[in-house]
Amino acid sequence: MKTFMQAILAGTALCLMAGPGLAQDKPKAEVMHWWTSGGEAAAIKTFAQAYQKAGGVWVDDATAGGENSRAAAINRMIGGNPPTAAQFNTGKQFDDLVSQGLIRPIEDLAEKGGWKDKMPPSLVAAASRDGKLYALPIDVHGQNWTFYSKDVLAKAGIDKLPDNWDDLIPALQKIKQAGFTPLALGGQPWQEHVLFNSILLSVGGKDLYLKVYRDKDEKAVRSDGFRKAVEVFGKLRGLVDAGSPGRNWNDATNLLITDKAAIQVMGDWAKGEFTNAGKTPGKDYGCTIGLADKMLMVGGDVFVFPKVDDPAKKKAQDLLAETMISPEAQIAFNRAKGSMPIRSDVDTSSFDACAQKGLKLLHDKDRQVPVFDILISASLVGAVDDVLTQFWNNPDAKPDAVVNGFVDAFQMYG
Ligand code: GAL
Repeated sequence: MKTFMQAILAGTALCLMAGPGLAQDKPKAEVMHWWTSGGEAAAIKTFAQAYQKAGGVWVDDATAGGENSRAAAINRMIGGNPPTAAQFNTGKQFDDLVSQGLIRPIEDLAEKGGWKDKMPPSLVAAASRDGKLYALPIDVHGQNWTFYSKDVLAKAGIDKLPDNWDDLIPALQKIKQAGFTPLALGGQPWQEHVLFNSILLSVGGKDLYLKVYRDKDEKAVRSDGFRKAVEVFGKLRGLVDAGSPGRNWNDATNLLITDKAAIQVMGDWAKGEFTNAGKTPGKDYGCTIGLADKMLMVGGDVFVFPKVDDPAKKKAQDLLAETMISPEAQIAFNRAKGSMPIRSDVDTSSFDACAQKGLKLLHDKDRQVPVFDILISASLVGAVDDVLTQFWNNPDAKPDAVVNGFVDAFQMYG
């Protein structure tokens, strides 16, 4: 027996010393992200597979919930034990990390790859500091989609999803009377702000949305258009189900997939859940941008690459960035994720009918606005979330609570 074990151990030792091509020689990337739903996991898996195919070793470090994942990544970097890469939203969430010198600029890689002129200028700008790229955008997510169950609408006698909120509210009330959940929502502050911002853009239009979030204009916040958006948001408080508080966004999407709820207002990452469930847009469910396919709220995701001294770690980062931005990886990842490719030179003919609508608006600078994560600081996002979630959770709260809350938040963090 002893001889047998000695032979096994010797054989193992030989394998480990066998030379090139083994795991310890390959570039290794520990990637921190929050993509834990069915669709998200299927999407990030395509990146992992592409990295392995390119000769890398992928170490997946997923944390559920954007806020949790970002906090974990920031702690790792501040603590001097950074991952190879970490996910953030395109925008201002990683500003402090850049100002503390903890993030590596990737302008060199971008120049070598000619990436920037193939990306939407608004997202390049949102990922750049002092003219240099400090984060790699890897998708374009529209954030103001309205997904709907064709089955629930039909059973409730709604022939067509109304293209404005004045008509949609009574339709949702009719759906409630028919015994279905009108609005599928996870009662979490970020989901409530996705809903409110989509209503603000639909009801107030591009100018008002930009005057509020880009200009922090008090007159705009005190305008009739803003108040109208708050009133619509308030009416929806009675059109969610009892299970809404605290529900994860993808569980809300599942209420549509299983034809229990009528609509969900959410980013097109929700489409990744339909795709993962084998559902086809137009056939199994519907999608509109806003309510009338007029104006796209453009955001997305980036990966930041912490500054590292070890040349092997830097090489692993280079390979990871070049792999994720490659046309092949962009097609596989974004089709699974529900998003649109960040590169304009990618063949999108295989993307679904919803993505085709999104791409049309994405290529028209007059038909889009940035998500508010690009326009306001992370602290102001938090303050706005507090105002909206307090209003959402208090059925007696009046619109003035939101109007005054926004004015105060802008004065404090604007
Ligand atoms: C967003 C992110 C998406 C999506 C969503 C839900 O912030 O941009 O990629 O996955 O969170 O987790």
